[in-house]
Amino acid sequence: MLINSKELLINARREGKAIGHFNVFNYESAKGVISAINGKKKPSFVAITETTIRYAGLGVITSIVKEIAKEIETDFVMHLDHGKNPELIKECIEAGFTSVMIDGSAFHFEENVDITKKVIALARPKEVSIEAELGHVGRVGEIMSKGYFSKPSRALEFVELTEVDSLAVAVGTIHGLVTEMNIDYNRLKEISSKVKVPLVIHGGTGLTTKDIYKLISNGVSKINIDTSLRIAFMRGLKQNITEADPRGALTYATAEVKTVTEKLIEKFEKGAKGDE
Ligand code: 13P
Repeated sequence: MLINSKELLINARREGKAIGHFNVFNYESAKGVISAINGKKKPSFVAITETTIRYAGLGVITSIVKEIAKEIETDFVMHLDHGKNPELIKECIEAGFTSVMIDGSAFHFEENVDITKKVIALARPKEVSIEAELGHVGRVGEIMSKGYFSKPSRALEFVELTEVDSLAVAVGTIHGLVTEMNIDYNRLKEISSKVKVPLVIHGGTGLTTKDIYKLISNGVSKINIDTSLRIAFMRGLKQNITEADPRGALTYATAEVKTVTEKLIEKFEKGAKGDE
């Protein structure tokens, strides 16, 4: 069943665990991620980006996810990742998403508050959860500085003004394939002592196991993974290329995505205990 993320994230924060957010972009990646969630019996986020919606079409990608959901017993959240356009967010809510992110991180504080409130007005009456971002989590290749990191007092003000359900914070992680991240744990600690809604980390690819445990023990309740899954997909695809039947290679791609998702779910579940 598709569920919203409210209770899931609040409980994760209380229990010192994180909920996995896994981006999917086609049938095989969705199958791999959802099979892992079902096998591990750990409700998680199955996330779709605006780029994937442009690639596959909103109806196609949501139908794939919803059809696979019918075959399994574990609940999960169908989430829009990095929603930037309130009109599209409205369409996603109508298409059955149970959680949406409004990414106003490119805006000034006041504009970010305004656009977040606008999306909350669309989503809350439908019981759809809302994630926002304050500060800016960069992408590999973007020139970043600590000026983009989330400021603890502003994070508190943002949550009080918007009443958002969860907040993505910028503390040193980067989207994409990175080998080293310099995470500002003191900042994260200060944010999580002030902000009581669940905190989200973007740019999960490249985090060490130690970082995963430490992030969770410092108050993070959701970790987003995209690039690692796409790399796993391509690794699988390359294993079994034949002339005539793509389904062989695609089955390997699904299996690789499933394995990577399972391993991450195990780490997220261990959570703060791993940091003891
Ligand atoms: P990665 O691509 O670094 O895994 O980040 C994913 C993400 O943050 C999606 O929102």
